Amino acid sequence: VSIPVLTIDGPGGAGKGTISGLIAERLGWHLLDSGALYRLTAQAAVKHGVALDDEAALEALAARLDIAFPVEQGAARTLLEGEDVTRLIRTEQAGERASRVASLPGVRQSLLDRQRDFCKAPGLVADGRDMGTVVFPEAPLKIFLTASAEERARRRYQQLQAAGVDASLSSLLKEIQARDARDTQRSVAPLKPADDAITLDTTRLSIPEVVDRLIQLLAQKG
Ligand code: C5P
Repeated sequence: VSIPVLTIDGPGGAGKGTISGLIAERLGWHLLDSGALYRLTAQAAVKHGVALDDEAALEALAARLDIAFPVEQGAARTLLEGEDVTRLIRTEQAGERASRVASLPGVRQSLLDRQRDFCKAPGLVADGRDMGTVVFPEAPLKIFLTASAEERARRRYQQLQAAGVDASLSSLLKEIQARDARDTQRSVAPLKPADDAITLDTTRLSIPEVVDRLIQLLAQKG
């Protein structure tokens, strides 16, 4: 029996995380936040003093990453080796480090099976950069979510403020542009829509509008 997978790829700040979470909740499906795995790999490297360009060491680190995503009282937490890193891995610095380790083929290979393990009945919403192109190429519905860099910076700013994290809008925009460049130009699994992906520009769409549109598309596929 094949398990339905909805892949949601796109640049940082396009709303993938929020949208993926809401859709998984609405459908009762599992959720893979693949970016968190790269953020956690980078965080483990910092913790263990591994250089962010030491591919062999990072590959080994990614392969034995000790992580958990417990949900307590409705709040999802992220644990690295038992330590709560929920907030720590959400900073811009953590994102920047994640993007560096994510450019290493060995690290991506190490995380491949772990990502596929998330695919369990009744279904999976997979959020990332290469969900439709590399990790779940057979997914029946692939979405590429985009929004202008300015709009994405504004959203990230609001998100960080809400989480109580200090940030500046102009430096967020610069970081988003730098991360876009690195993610789209890397040689392995670059950020790009799968050939059979549907691109949705969310610059002028509200969160409920995007969720409804995707549920509609899923219904058409089903
Ligand atoms: O989505 P998020 O911002 O958490 O991802 C952090 C970084 O991890 C991205 O900038 C990207 O470089 C990398 N990433 C990736 N492939 C994925 C998910 C994230 O390369 N599937």
